[in-house]
Amino acid sequence: MSEIHVTDSQGVSKTIEYDSPSNLMELLKEADYEEVAAICGGSCSCATCHVWLNDPDQAAALFPDKESTESDLLELVDDFDKHKSRLSCQLTLEDHHSGLEIRLHKEGF
Ligand code: FES
Repeated sequence: MSEIHVTDSQGVSKTIEYDSPSNLMELLKEADYEEVAAICGGSCSCATCHVWLNDPDQAAALFPDKESTESDLLELVDDFDKHKSRLSCQLTLEDHHSGLEIRLHKEGF
């Protein structure tokens, strides 16, 4: 079993186990994080699934680059960070992502 470490908008940290492959947005929704509204259901059109990947170097090495649609949406969100911000619906977790640290923000924009 693989796991990620999630810190919510209140600063509370929790470890979540997952089976590979798992969509990160769906995993966060299943864990009842209200910061992840994901109102478009994962079609990359709302940006309400914004997360920070705490280690930008690790994130760059582990995930594909952002598509232009994801980049354009991310620039609209509060707390946008050029290196850390991703849309969780666009990220698939495999076994080699185990140990990833994620930070959530307040819901929506
Ligand atoms: S769920 Fe809407 S962009 Fe990710």
